[in-house]
Amino acid sequence: MKTLADIFREALKERGIESIGTLSKRFRKSKNKLQDIAIEIVNGKGAIFRVPEKTAVAWDLNGNRVEGSYYAYAPLCMADKFEMVLSPEELRSKLPEWPYFIIDLYHWDRHTQKEKGKICLQVNQSYGLLRDYFTGRELAVTWVNDEFREMFHGSIDRITAYEGSTAEFLKDRGIDEVVLLDPWADDVLSEEDFGVEAFIIGGIVDTGGNKKKTTPKIGEELENAGIKVRRRKIVLRGDIVGVPDRINRILGIILKMMVEGKPMDEAVYEMQEPLHARWRLRKELPKRVIRYRVDGKDFRVVERELFEEYSSWLKIRWEDFVKVLRELDLVGLDRKRIHSLNKLSNPRIIKGKLYRVILLKKARMLCYNC
Ligand SMILES: C[S@@+](CC[C@H](N)C(=O)[O-])C[C@H]1O[C@@H](n2cnc3c(N)ncnc32)[C@H](O)[C@@H]1O
Repeated sequence: MKTLADIFREALKERGIESIGTLSKRFRKSKNKLQDIAIEIVNGKGAIFRVPEKTAVAWDLNGNRVEGSYYAYAPLCMADKFEMVLSPEELRSKLPEWPYFIIDLYHWDRHTQKEKGKICLQVNQSYGLLRDYFTGRELAVTWVNDEFREMFHGSIDRITAYEGSTAEFLKDRGIDEVVLLDPWADDVLSEEDFGVEAFIIGGIVDTGGNKKKTTPKIGEELENAGIKVRRRKIVLRGDIVGVPDRINRILGIILKMMVEGKPMDEAVYEMQEPLHARWRLRKELPKRVIRYRVDGKDFRVVERELFEEYSSWLKIRWEDFVKVLRELDLVGLDRKRIHSLNKLSNPRIIKGKLYRVILLKKARMLCYNC
């Protein structure tokens, strides 16, 4: 899927423009200059002009610094000074129909004030993400009320804030089928779902753990209103545990898959924080436990080398690995050491579980060798 920067690049190429500069210091720190300049043009703040003298700074159409250019971004008030070569209207006319990404505030009143603040922050961060790929206007927030308007500190006029229900919003735009991102869904989100005109994410923040299964309710509401709902979950290696559940991070995963073409596991990894990775590690490590009974005392051991294995797909640092070992009361030992322990031990089934039993005498030998 093309980004706004791609469309802008094509429009410049069509006009034979290979580099652009600016007449101000703006955008110099921007990491994605073409995208950021294009956003300003789409928002009607400026345009591309032909200038009589080369600009001091310029970038080629891949964003690399080059010597000055005879084409520059400048605010629209310069229109009477220079010849405009790409206007906001011209760029807007080239934009494709990007899908809507709807944050559904149906459950707004179930949140505490602190949680409402978090929803607002995540909506703002979602806007920032969409601006990196499209224009930001693709972000719609439904069931918007006065309280949300007051608490939202971003530029509300740059997103689509809708006071009615999500179903009304969709019907107004002739959309009759959507993807609802739902951790309780049976089916996993896939490329085949990327053709829909709207994705719905629950505007839900779960700090109190009292909003279990609220996302499917959003789906039921939509279905009752006659909208076809494809409920889809995002998983990491087949499991939702370890998938960051913040609204903006879910959006980030969809965008990385849809626009950048990344596989789901990679997109999840990139949007993961150590906190989410630890959730999953807590589930994974017990599967790898080796039980020892040394002189009557039980130890649950895992290989230290598992850190390398898990850190290839979970965003954990060594301190996260150690933290989870402590929480689960596990001992981490080098693989070599586990091999020598195994040589000294005898396997036995105790209460249905395999233990490696080391007797007192051998346990002492073990200590002498420590
Ligand atoms: C914090 S979650 C709320 C989940 C809610 N407590 C529930 O049980 O339905 C916020 C939103 O992120 C999205 N989400 C979170 N994890 C997801 C996953 N693994 N797959 C798909 N969507 C997810 C859903 O749209 C969800 O409504």
